[in-house]
Amino acid sequence: MDQAPWWRNAVVYEVYVRSFLDSSADGVGDLAGVADRVPYLSDLGVDALWLTPFYPSPMADGGYDVADFRGVDPLFGDLAAFDALLATAHRHGLRIIIDLVPNHTSSAHPWFAAALAAPPDSPERDRYIFRAGSGPGGDRPPNNWRSVFGGPAWSRLPDGAWYLHLFAPEQPDLNWRNPEVAEEFAGILRFWLDRGVDGFRIDVAMGLFKDPGLPDIEGDDIRAKRTDGPVWNRPELHGLYRTWRRVLDGYDGDRMAVGEIWTDAPAELARYVRPDELHQAFTFDWLRADWSAAEFREVAAGALEATAPVGAANTWVLANHDVVRQVTRFGGGAVGLARARAALLATLALPGSAYLYQGEELGLPEVTDIPEDALQDPIWERSGHRRRGRDGCRVPIPWAEDGVSYGFGPDGVRPWLPMPVTWSPLSVQAQDRDPGSTLNLYRRALRTRRAEPALHGAEFRWLDLGPDVLAFTRSPDSAGPGLTCVLNCGTEPVPLPPHTEVLLTSTRPGAAADGELPADTAVWLRTP
Ligand code: NOJ
Repeated sequence: MDQAPWWRNAVVYEVYVRSFLDSSADGVGDLAGVADRVPYLSDLGVDALWLTPFYPSPMADGGYDVADFRGVDPLFGDLAAFDALLATAHRHGLRIIIDLVPNHTSSAHPWFAAALAAPPDSPERDRYIFRAGSGPGGDRPPNNWRSVFGGPAWSRLPDGAWYLHLFAPEQPDLNWRNPEVAEEFAGILRFWLDRGVDGFRIDVAMGLFKDPGLPDIEGDDIRAKRTDGPVWNRPELHGLYRTWRRVLDGYDGDRMAVGEIWTDAPAELARYVRPDELHQAFTFDWLRADWSAAEFREVAAGALEATAPVGAANTWVLANHDVVRQVTRFGGGAVGLARARAALLATLALPGSAYLYQGEELGLPEVTDIPEDALQDPIWERSGHRRRGRDGCRVPIPWAEDGVSYGFGPDGVRPWLPMPVTWSPLSVQAQDRDPGSTLNLYRRALRTRRAEPALHGAEFRWLDLGPDVLAFTRSPDSAGPGLTCVLNCGTEPVPLPPHTEVLLTSTRPGAAADGELPADTAVWLRTP
């Protein structure tokens, strides 16, 4: 049906490996656990998996502190387990995208160890961003940048030199102006491409180059100014991504890269997905939108308009391992769940690809009451206990109705984060047999999306059904029946547009049978 490369229309499922399935009885998920559930994922109806970092790491930031970019941490398995997972996934028709973390290494990486052992101004230190301090005796950091996780973005070595870390001190930033760094990462790309991976998710893709002058910023929160400042979105990135595109294009099988690019400007985002750069960039504005039809429309229209001139497909996402789960963002409880289910139908009906985050298919809420002494995210300590961090969306998956970890690991093994005592009904086992469950809604929606020609067509049209309603129609290029998605963000039922069939509703079958769509509900209609 589709001539386009697979990723333009794919649904990709993010596996947060340490929380997916623990096959080794150590309380932490692993690659063999993912392999074990490939049939579940293929039955869910997704096209590809994105695996979060599984590389050797001291785990100062859940593995985003990489000590060896070409290996597997024993916690998650070994290279043979990776190869086995890749083969199993491919056998089931699922592609595999892995996380590439080029902005920083772990402080345990051999390069950083060599930098520490080498004198100032040495080639070893030039792979990172070392500077003399400011103030009397160089006792103050070189500039006023604060790290994304809280605290200064600089740490000092015993010899007095300071090094930059946009994230935790255990994640020193690499110096992308040093050609050795670029060469190393081209080699890392090839290493995994040769093993057969289908693509990469590029961590901190808008942060690799900094203004070489490292000037102070207004305020001191580097997260505040993402579009044109000294930290993010520097023009040099585009040249780098062109070289990576050439590496990827040198392989068969439509290998791809998706960038983690936080920006407030859709036009800036679109520059990363020009035909010779990255294939995809997440539309994070979609997951930052409130429960508001106007906001959803503004974001979607803005993204569609911005990417049209460069010919890129859009990449929609409602959740990942860094943000509060959508059930909770949209109000929590039954209302939050209804809205999250409705938002899924809008997401899956928009043109382009969509990324799902593990557990959203179960309607998992954010866990907001993890005891403080169980919190693992470095944000908790780095922020001086002001921000609890991201553990609440990283709680392991409940597979079974019973057991201390609901089947996440062998019974009796405590999971790395505690799981709520109320999660039995949210488990895969419980939802599997309930036709109205969130899990079965996801399955139906993904099946319908795959089979529905209108959702693969190029035609897109907004419908105006009032201020509380997001509505649009998709149809195939050639004349053919369309699919209209209607999402009611208001508090009252709204009349549906003319249609010949209700294909899917986000609540229960029949919910829209009387021609009206209830509040907090979405529907896919067959329209003439
Ligand atoms: C973005 C990742 O998604 C996040 O989990 C991580 O903490 C930072 N990048 C730093 O690598």
